[in-house]
Amino acid sequence: MRPVPVLLLLALLGSGQVVAQQQALMEYLERRLQAIEDRISLWHEQTSRYASELREVRQQITLQLEGLEKSKEGLRVEMDGLGGRLVRMEREMDYLETQKDSQPCVDVDDKLLEQQANLAMEKNKLKYAKLSGCKDMVSSMKGMKVLKRMGGPQGLWMKDMSTGSGKIYWFNSTSDDTLYTFPSIRDFSSSQGMALSTPVRMPARWGGTGHAIYRGFAFLLEEGAETRRLLKVSLSDGSLTDTSVLPFPELVPTYALRPHTYVDLAVDEEGLWAIYATRSDSHHLSLAKLDADTLAVMQLWTTPCPRENAEGAFVVCGTLYVVYNGQVPGRARVQCIYDVGDLLAPDEAPQVYFPRRQGSHSSLKYSPKERLLYAWDQGNQILYKLIMKDKLEV
Ligand SMILES: *[C@@H]1O[C@H](CO)[C@@H](O)[C@H](O)[C@H]1NC(C)=O
Repeated sequence: MRPVPVLLLLALLGSGQVVAQQQALMEYLERRLQAIEDRISLWHEQTSRYASELREVRQQITLQLEGLEKSKEGLRVEMDGLGGRLVRMEREMDYLETQKDSQPCVDVDDKLLEQQANLAMEKNKLKYAKLSGCKDMVSSMKGMKVLKRMGGPQGLWMKDMSTGSGKIYWFNSTSDDTLYTFPSIRDFSSSQGMALSTPVRMPARWGGTGHAIYRGFAFLLEEGAETRRLLKVSLSDGSLTDTSVLPFPELVPTYALRPHTYVDLAVDEEGLWAIYATRSDSHHLSLAKLDADTLAVMQLWTTPCPRENAEGAFVVCGTLYVVYNGQVPGRARVQCIYDVGDLLAPDEAPQVYFPRRQGSHSSLKYSPKERLLYAWDQGNQILYKLIMKDKLEV
């Protein structure tokens, strides 16, 4: 036997073994790699699952935080409302106190006292009976009509619905001493300028756009906020019938967007109202019911309606509707109401948006029966038609 072929064979055999060994090693390594890859992909899957779970948890927490924030806001609003009620109750207590104080307590015979008590009761009954009559609320606004363009950027115009005369009264600018009457709305819209008008000279200069016409009288706010003087002027001859200093201490402009008006008078189905704001609560509007005969203040309310961004307000059936706008005039809208009869909550304000215009309202005067708002917008005399519904209807 020759040794060489055996060696070769062995070598061949050996190299065959090496190849097999290498292959086995490769296979082993591949399996390991596969296992590692599997684990890596499992790990990837898990992390992405964790990540999405984390995201969900974070979302839930954010939602819950938002919910908390909202209920906090709700609580705050409620607290504000309660605060307003408290102030109102305090006012009423004060009022009752003064009533009590004004009654003589010594050396008056019983009969007289009884008479006075009865009189006071009658008075109170009268006061509340007057506020219980009408139950309408504004539900929407149906269209507008620009009737005329006359006068400066600020002013007011209105009709006196309480006399049935149909006359139109026109106050140009925020400070003057002469108002103009037109025999009818038709004459007003067809008049070439002031041609069909009659001027009525007032006994003093007025300030702002808060005046009102009611039962054949002009109720005029004298120029200068510090005077707080209300004049009652007969429209038949322009004579001064009565004057009164309104018991509102330290007035600030009623609406933040209307710097010229310190008291805004409103007429509704119940009579004459004054809307105003004072330095001591300059963030909210206050409301007073006036007696048109005596100019006395019958009752006062502080409302939760903010003064900020307010451009006007009107009263319908004993409910105050406050109209808001922006520093840059946009869409005026009713955003807060206050019902002195407590049938409507402040957040039950109807969604009333005024048609989009460039300007802003210098005055908004409600005309009962017609259910119209007489508005003055940059020298345009505009009518808005209001649609009503029952306060108790949801
Ligand atoms: C209205 O008032 C403006 C000032 O705001 C004045 O320029 C204008 O002449 C007045 N118009 C009439 C008709 O009185």
